[in-house]
Amino acid sequence: MKRVAVLGATGYSGIELLKLLAAHGGTEVSAVSADKNAGQPLDKVIPSLKGFYKLTCQRIEQLFDMNFDAVFLALPHEQSASIGHKFLKSNTVVIDISAAFRIKDPDQFKKWYGFETSSELSGIAVYGLPELKREAIKRSRLIANPGCYPTGAIIPIAPFLKRKIIKNKGIIIDAKSGVTGAGRSPSQELHFSEVNEGFKAYKPASHRHIPEIEQELSEISGGTGITFVPHLVPMNRGIFTTVYAVADSKNIKQSELEDTLRDAYQQEPFIRVIGTPEMPNVSAVRGSNYIDIAVRYDEKNSIVILFSALDNLVKGASGQALQNMNIVLGFDEKQGLTAPPLFP
Ligand SMILES: NC(=O)c1ccc[n+]([C@@H]2O[C@H](COP(=O)([O-])OP(=O)(O)OC[C@H]3O[C@@H](n4cnc5c(N)ncnc54)[C@H](OP(=O)(O)O)[C@@H]3O)[C@@H](O)[C@H]2O)c1
Repeated sequence: MKRVAVLGATGYSGIELLKLLAAHGGTEVSAVSADKNAGQPLDKVIPSLKGFYKLTCQRIEQLFDMNFDAVFLALPHEQSASIGHKFLKSNTVVIDISAAFRIKDPDQFKKWYGFETSSELSGIAVYGLPELKREAIKRSRLIANPGCYPTGAIIPIAPFLKRKIIKNKGIIIDAKSGVTGAGRSPSQELHFSEVNEGFKAYKPASHRHIPEIEQELSEISGGTGITFVPHLVPMNRGIFTTVYAVADSKNIKQSELEDTLRDAYQQEPFIRVIGTPEMPNVSAVRGSNYIDIAVRYDEKNSIVILFSALDNLVKGASGQALQNMNIVLGFDEKQGLTAPPLFP
């Protein structure tokens, strides 16, 4: 059994991770941390976990001297940035679900997040998108788990940039997220009466996930420019992303575009290519580690349109974090992640 700790266990990503770990079979959760809920029994704070864990939420400092095979940081960015190094021992892998170590350029990080993180740790962290970086993840001790929106955007776009089927500038990413994407802390704009029956864009062309998406896509294309507009929709979980990209040539066939997705991802256990005339739907991936993707060609305007649907708490956060743990600790990559989506 591998000993793991979940920091930020009482947040949405921490809870999702504990749910997945309860069914993993190769791990023992030896410690969990919380902030306001420190000192409380875990199953009192999270009644859905009653009967699965006999743990009390501790303060992070109480875990510094304990030994773990894997430590998950499901914390606000600032907290991950300030305590990540404390757990980086020779036989411990740290998997950070926050953005603290995702951005390689320290100036970019400070510009978008408003504080400084450790450039040394960001330098050694591997961006944990298994479908693009599996070999590097295997050798890593610090994994920067990707953001939920970036996962939904990068996976469908990457194969088309690799094959130069789309231009690397002027890519428009229009994404819609459920409310759990904002975390568990209450705020006025997340009240039921504010969100229910509403639908709005927020932070157009100014969301923090822009540098992360551009950084990862630029590794493929040598410089990618995106316009990203996120939206909030009244559902608990899920992100649906639509991408508009200008085709690099006019001689493109729909079948060629679909083949590009299938060639790139046919071996991937958690990517399902949805063929014409079907469409991805967040209801078909809910509660699972799948990301469903599709492509269409707008021939009249030479626009390649890409679609993806994922669960922000699973493939967009904790499922992907567990997938990364499986890779780096030598488990079957699918272990604990094979339950089918929740439908209806
Ligand atoms: N939600 C998503 O869909 C999603 C997707 C991808 C990545 N992420 C990232 O994952 C991280 C966690 O997100 P979340 O949505 O799970 O957040 P959340 O629901 O707000 O939970 C935050 C967790 O961190 C603890 N915490 C808060 N402030 C703390 C502090 N000052 N010191 C120590 N612990 C503290 C909280 O403990 P208490 O409950 O005791 O306050 C709670 O356990 C964030 O960095 C987020 O950006 C989230």
